[in-house]
Amino acid sequence: MPAYTHFDVEPMTAFVGAEIHGVDLSRPLGAATLAELRRAWHTHGVVFFRDQTLSHEQHIAFGRQLGEPYTMPSAGVNHPEHPELFRLYADEHSSYVAGEGWHADGTGEAAPPLGGLMAIEELPPIGGDTLFVSVHEAYQRLSPALQSFLRGLKAEHSAAKAWGRVHYATPAGGFPLALHPVVIRHPVTGREALYVNSGFTTRIVDLAPAESDALLAFLFRHLETPDFACRFRWRPGSVALWDNRAVQHCALFNYRGHRRSGWRYTIQGPRPEPA
Ligand code: SIN
Repeated sequence: MPAYTHFDVEPMTAFVGAEIHGVDLSRPLGAATLAELRRAWHTHGVVFFRDQTLSHEQHIAFGRQLGEPYTMPSAGVNHPEHPELFRLYADEHSSYVAGEGWHADGTGEAAPPLGGLMAIEELPPIGGDTLFVSVHEAYQRLSPALQSFLRGLKAEHSAAKAWGRVHYATPAGGFPLALHPVVIRHPVTGREALYVNSGFTTRIVDLAPAESDALLAFLFRHLETPDFACRFRWRPGSVALWDNRAVQHCALFNYRGHRRSGWRYTIQGPRPEPA
C-alpha cells in the first residue's frame, strides 16, 4: 500500500477506523489530497478528523467533493435551509436517539447512501460516542461454507423497520423497501462485505421464515463482535466520514438527560452489486 503524502493517517484498529491529521476541511481539497483521502476512507471504512471549524456551507461543500447528497425523505428531519444536512439530535426529553442500534444508513433504498459525513455541534458532558464495525472483516471471519451459502442470497431491507417507530414516513406516506444481495462487492476496493443490518433488514427472501429469522439473528450478533469494531469519542470540532458499504455504525445513547446534536451530509450511492 503506498504511503500517504498529503496528511498523516493513524489507524485505530487493524480492521476499522483511522484518525487523519493535517487536513483542513473548511477549504476545497486539491485533487491529489482528495484522492488520498478517498483511499484512506475506503481502506479504513471510517476516518475521523479533529479540531475542524465547519459552517454548514463548508460541511456541504466538502460533502459535495465526495458525492451528490442523499436527502432524507421524511419531513422535519433536515436542516430547514440546508436540506442536504440531516439533524442528529437528542436532549433531556428524548427517549431514543436517531442511529441507536447497529445499522448501515438508508438500506431500504434501492440505491442506498455510499457514505455519511457527520460534524458534531454540541456534545453532552459525557458519552455520546459512536461505534463502527467492519463488515468486510465480519464476512472474512465466517467459515468458507457459510460465506459461499450467503453469497447466493438476497435480503429485504425496509425503512419501516428502521424509521417506523419514530416519525419518518415519506411525504407520500410510505417507507422505502428494497432487495439487496446478502454479500456485496465493494465497488472501489473489490472487497466482499456482509450487507445485512439489524436496523433495516427484515428477512432473507430465499429462506423459510424460521430459517431466515435464525440466520439473521446469528449474523446480527456476529456483526456486533467487538474485535471488528472501533469506538469514536467525539470532541468539539470532530468530524467522521464513514463508508456505508464497509462499516455499520451505532450511536450510543449513554447520556440520557443531556443534549447532543450534530449534522450529517449523506452521500448518494449506486445500487449494491453482489459479490
Ligand atoms: C447515524 O448517522 O446513524 C448517527 C451517528 C451518530 O449520531 O453518532
